[in-house]
Amino acid sequence: MKALVLAAGKGTRLKPLTNTVPKHILPVGDKPVLFHVLNYVKEAGIKDIGIVVSPESGPYIEEAIGTGSEWGGQITFIVQHEPLGLAHAVKVAKGFLGDSPFLMLLGDNLVQEGVKDFLDEFHTSSSDASILLKEVPDPRAFGVAELDPSGKVIHMVEKPQKPKSNLAIIGVYLFTAEIHKAIAQIKPSWRGELEITDAIQKLLEMGKVIRSHLLQGWWLDIGSNDGLIEANRVVLDAFLERDIKGKVDKQSSIVGRVEIGEATEIENSLVQGPVFIAANCRIKNSLVKPFTNIRAETVVEDSSLERSVILENCQILKIKHLANSVIGKNTKLTGQDKDPGEACTEQSRRIRLFIGDDCKVEL
Ligand code: TTP
Repeated sequence: MKALVLAAGKGTRLKPLTNTVPKHILPVGDKPVLFHVLNYVKEAGIKDIGIVVSPESGPYIEEAIGTGSEWGGQITFIVQHEPLGLAHAVKVAKGFLGDSPFLMLLGDNLVQEGVKDFLDEFHTSSSDASILLKEVPDPRAFGVAELDPSGKVIHMVEKPQKPKSNLAIIGVYLFTAEIHKAIAQIKPSWRGELEITDAIQKLLEMGKVIRSHLLQGWWLDIGSNDGLIEANRVVLDAFLERDIKGKVDKQSSIVGRVEIGEATEIENSLVQGPVFIAANCRIKNSLVKPFTNIRAETVVEDSSLERSVILENCQILKIKHLANSVIGKNTKLTGQDKDPGEACTEQSRRIRLFIGDDCKVEL
């Protein structure tokens, strides 16, 4: 069994951030989203891992992963020159996959329970593919599967107007080498992509057996600003433990599950967990409220932050009530000495920003 992790794509919904950094290395909790995905692969015991990257994302991802020894196996990078669809990514990876069965995951999606049970089920069933499904309130935005009473897939449709079930196909799949024959027979969709849903539907038409596994826990797609903020909320809430390595002065108070990295200094501030603050940061005269993720080397002074992701080496100065925001690295945000909205309610004074790397903003 091999694993194929897809980390090419355009990342349009996370622009401008993805102009300079692939979304796969954006942080969720204490590590890049891609590392969480590789951990699922490791837990499932798969040692031969291919990562599909784009010419732009490749160098960043290779640097972040390094030797990959942490995942205990062999990592191969495969370049997809254009993001022509998930089935196209499989086609590009054919040399790496050979005739092996494989687990395919999207490098920007998280699933609460990992993939081990899904894989174990596949090993004991004699099917040609298996897909992970999640019940969603409105399935019209997803690929949707129709099942028979035994859980066998009988039909798949991409974004149906009138869905026949509420079972969305999420980005985790198991395939045997039969999928390559199916991909060879499909054509690009209206959006010009070779769709994996079409390839799986083709497998059904070829008379192959496709099973499904219903995901009980959460599923998070970090592909948009809101998705990234929500993934941080859920993961910080679920996994963060109190761990204070940095220095906290007597005028500060750290409440609840807060992780503070080495050489970070907290002065005259209140930090209310769950909050992650990486190494070498300085937080001074500030209020850091729940579900905030502050990366290394960042300075926050005379500010208040909530439910936001602040990347490396930022300066957040005199910014009141920054909430539900994503701030790219090396960015400087400066507010005014006097809070312009003193007469307003906290709610109406809240600022929400989505800012790429290397920006300067004066508010
Ligand atoms: P998407 O999020 O559907 O596409 P995208 O990454 O291009 O983002 P956007 O829609 O905002 O432009 O892709 C899901 C995952 O699959 C993501 O990790 C990127 C990866 N992918 C590939 O590796 N190759 C591809 O051809 C495509 C379309 C996606």
